Amino acid sequence: MNKITLPVLKGMKEKHDKISVVTCYDASFARLVEKAEIESVLVGDSLGMVIKGEENTLNVSIEEMEYHVRAVKRAVKNAFIIADMPFGSYQASIESGVRNAVKLLKAGAEAVKLEGGEEIAGLVKTLTRSGIPVCGHVGLTPQFVNKFGGFLKQGKNDEEREFIFKSAKCIEEAGADLIVLESIPHTLAAEITRALKIPTIGIGAGNDTDGQVLVIYDLLGMNQDFNPSFLKKYCDLDKVVSSALSAYKKDVKS
Ligand code: KIV
Repeated sequence: MNKITLPVLKGMKEKHDKISVVTCYDASFARLVEKAEIESVLVGDSLGMVIKGEENTLNVSIEEMEYHVRAVKRAVKNAFIIADMPFGSYQASIESGVRNAVKLLKAGAEAVKLEGGEEIAGLVKTLTRSGIPVCGHVGLTPQFVNKFGGFLKQGKNDEEREFIFKSAKCIEEAGADLIVLESIPHTLAAEITRALKIPTIGIGAGNDTDGQVLVIYDLLGMNQDFNPSFLKKYCDLDKVVSSALSAYKKDVKS
């Protein structure tokens, strides 16, 4: 696989060539993601839940994001690296948003991902005009978990659907280069994908987006108790790792 750049990703949308994205957080998995020629790696703030064992993504710091971006960057040569701006790193002001986005680019990210719509349009404009590519994120935006009252599917009624559609349009108009659509009706994701020029990357948003993203631990089946309806598991790592650990323990004891 050649180096994946933003123009390459945008060209894939035009050619209807689907974009594969995997969230991963460390060099060991990033090496395998790169080997599989996945086009883009997202260093997601889902690491708060997956790596740190927190209840949600709110308690992730910019320093933690920088640390994981650096680890992924060491193993990735060609995949396009996107890094999440963690909660609190861009909400206070455009200035703090720019300062923190610069930190993630210096750590090795090639684009930053921000959650929201109109309220972050000013920041998206400033970032993209300063040469910092932006991936938007609408629908179920985990940093809004306390507003939503849980990790709930969004776009349940006309009002919510219109809000999500307008947010996506607004983020594109502000200059975003890509956008994640999370946990929204398939029909709405298809409508947004048709309406936007930038690539849409879906999770729990059906098959009609320009690409798909899954968290590596989820797609590998690391947790047998995590089974959202959209998740296809390509391996049963929970079982594989558990039986390997039991076999190791048995060997040590004998
Ligand atoms: O943090 C993350 O991994 C994400 C994806 C699931 C879209 O935001």
